[in-house]
Amino acid sequence: MHKIFAKPLFLGKKVVFLPQCHSTNDELVSLAKKSVEPEGLVLYTDDQTKGRGQRGNVWLAEPGKNILMSLLLRPKWLAPNDQYYLNLIVGLAMLDMLKSHVNGELVLKWPNDVYLSEKKIAGILIENSMRGSVLESSVVGIGLNVNQKGFNLSSATSIYLETGKEQDRVEMMEQLLIYLEQWYLKLKSGSQVYILNEYHKSMMWRGELRTFKVNEEEFEGEILGIDSNGRLTINERDKLRNFGIKEVKFVR
Ligand code: BTN
Repeated sequence: MHKIFAKPLFLGKKVVFLPQCHSTNDELVSLAKKSVEPEGLVLYTDDQTKGRGQRGNVWLAEPGKNILMSLLLRPKWLAPNDQYYLNLIVGLAMLDMLKSHVNGELVLKWPNDVYLSEKKIAGILIENSMRGSVLESSVVGIGLNVNQKGFNLSSATSIYLETGKEQDRVEMMEQLLIYLEQWYLKLKSGSQVYILNEYHKSMMWRGELRTFKVNEEEFEGEILGIDSNGRLTINERDKLRNFGIKEVKFVR
C-alpha cells in the first residue's frame, strides 16, 4: 500500500503501488474482482511488462520514468450510451494538468490520445464493465511520458523532451486526479453539452481538410466533432460519415 493522494476529494484515497506488473489495467481488474474496492482506487507501477494500448497495441515505457496508472471509477449513474463521455473527460483532465507544465500546442486525437506539438505524449485505455444495463465499473488506464529521454518512435515525446525538466511523477498524478475529479463531477451533474463543447475545442485536426483512411480507401474530409453515440463525424464533400474507434485512421 502506498500513501494516499491528499488533495483530491474522493479519487486516490486508496493507492496501490507495484514496482513491476504486466499491466496496471489488468492488475486493477483482478484486484477489484477479489475484493470490494472503492471508487477512486489508484494502482500504479514503475515498470509494465505487458502494457496494453488501444486496438490491441502494446504500450512501451522505460521503467521508472513515466506515469503508468489505472483508476477505478463506478459511474453507475451514467447512461450506457453516454459511456464515451468518460473518454472525453479523462482527455480534458489530462490537458488541464499538462497545460501547467508545457508550452506547446496540446490537443486530443479522437478519442483520447494526447498530443503535444504534434507528437504523442500520452495514451488512455478505458475498459468498462456492465452489470445488466448498469455501468458497474470503469478502469481508466493512463500512460503519460514524463521523464523518458528518448523513444524509438519519432512520433512520441515526453515532458522532459519538451521542457528539459524532470518532474515528480507522484505529484503529477495527484494534479491529474484533482482535475479529473472536477470533470467527473461535471459529468455526474449532467453537463454533457458543456463537456462536448470543451472537447470539440481541443480536438486535433477539427475544422481542417485532412486525409483519412477506411480499410484501403483514402479520402479527404474535415472533422466536425463527435455524434451522440461518441462516433467521429467527418464531412467528406458535404457527405457526413460517422466512424467507430477501430474504423478510421488519421493519415495526414
Ligand atoms: C493507447 O494510446 O493506445 C493507450 C495506452 C494506454 C497505456 C496505459 S499505461 C497504464 C495502463 N495499463 C495498460 O496496460 N495500459 C494503460
